[in-house]
Amino acid sequence: MRAKITVNKDFAIGEIDKRLYGSFIEQLGRAVYGGIYEPSHESADECGFRKDVIDLVSKLNVPIVRYPGGNFVSGYDWEDGTGDKALRPKRLELAWGVTETNEVGIDEFQEWAKRVDTEVMMAVNLGTRGADDAKNLVEYCNLDTDTKYANKRRANGLEKPFGIKTWCLGNEMDGPWQIGHKTASEYARIAHEAGKMMKWVDPSIELVACGSSSFYMPTFGEWEWTVLDEAYDVVDYISLHTYYGNAAKNTPEFLANSVAMDEFIKGVANICDAVKAKKHSSKTVNLSFDEWNVWYHSNGAPFEKWSVAPHQIEDIYNFEDALLVGCMLSTLQNNCDRVKIACLAQLVNVIAPIMTENSGRAWAQTIFYPFMYASNYGRGTTLRSIVTCDTYKALGRDIPYLESSVIYNGESGEITVFATNRSLDEDMLLSLDLQGFENAKVIEHIELYCDDLLAINDSNCERVSPKSVDIASGMDINLRKHSWNMIRFKTEKNK
Ligand code: AHR
Repeated sequence: MRAKITVNKDFAIGEIDKRLYGSFIEQLGRAVYGGIYEPSHESADECGFRKDVIDLVSKLNVPIVRYPGGNFVSGYDWEDGTGDKALRPKRLELAWGVTETNEVGIDEFQEWAKRVDTEVMMAVNLGTRGADDAKNLVEYCNLDTDTKYANKRRANGLEKPFGIKTWCLGNEMDGPWQIGHKTASEYARIAHEAGKMMKWVDPSIELVACGSSSFYMPTFGEWEWTVLDEAYDVVDYISLHTYYGNAAKNTPEFLANSVAMDEFIKGVANICDAVKAKKHSSKTVNLSFDEWNVWYHSNGAPFEKWSVAPHQIEDIYNFEDALLVGCMLSTLQNNCDRVKIACLAQLVNVIAPIMTENSGRAWAQTIFYPFMYASNYGRGTTLRSIVTCDTYKALGRDIPYLESSVIYNGESGEITVFATNRSLDEDMLLSLDLQGFENAKVIEHIELYCDDLLAINDSNCERVSPKSVDIASGMDINLRKHSWNMIRFKTEKNK
């Protein structure tokens, strides 16, 4: 099979905001306890953080991590996780049916974030709490004033404000499973008022309003419209969440989901712009795709009610999951004009690229690799690609066998092409026409390929890992059947 991508240096989609490569840690399962934090682990540092996990997270070069939820945040009293650890209460955690010890809270998470060189994206509780607690949390985190909550932070030994810039106004408030679930107009009012006060406390922050918890919610569309119609002036982004699965064991259909993701993004951007037009506003609300991943392997796995840090939603990812994650990353990159923030959900143990054993090893799941390369090499400007290739029928659409994105980094003068061949039977000869770039030369071709679509990595064996491929001399690149690829070109800068 043959395919072609044409790009032109002058035709850009937009600049990639580095927060496109964000992730997410929820106080859930073993994401925190036994994941990033395990004081008794042989690699633990003086604060109890696992250095083996820090090393893996650092390889992903994640610029922002959403915290502390997720569904968890809608029942959370943030004060429980601050101050003297010996005095922190244990709580019934209703979102996931476990006990939260509060050994780790905002103070510790901020400390961990420094170690992995990331920003925190903080979510506030608009389920059981409201504007008052949200604005107090902004004061606690961000202010240098001689006032109650800034002084509380100092009393807890944290002199310098954390300077958290990006804030989520609750989580998935449209879902009946959410603690304190709301109708669109109930949520719109509380988001507007909380957001207004939070910005009064710190006008430099940016706010993400909850969009629908999936494209398939019955209130999708109407929810976004109602929330934005009420809170347009105060919010900067609206959220999108999606998880895909292959329970039907239909790989061509499963791999087509990044096309559905693209339509979801464009649909929400259109709603934002319709509200903008209705309001005669000059402001553009952008998108925060703050939960996305594959999630279905662990559905229905049992755990003990009210236990502490049980194994919960620990999907073990296979090779085809990595292919879809690679495709979804291309979709995000190709929508970088509107998607400014995206969070791979999640980061450690809970539907995550990094897994750990309690008191044992940490390792990279299959999905770790496309994310790592996208985050490290997918920085710069996404170029508009004209793609020609064969298609197949799935999800009621014509799905191209090739999913791709092309990023130009003006600083390094490099072009990086991310390309997934969705065909399960045929290799693809991809021709690249890089217009406006002088003497572009391939410098690296990394391939993620495995004969077995269901192969997994575990603590003892890495069956799915990237390999360097011999570099092609011209502009035709071979993409093996069902493979994810990253091809890097050096160009002559400033020509
Ligand atoms: O990421 C796991 C859960 O998925 C989150 O807590 C919730 O927001 C979503 O439904």
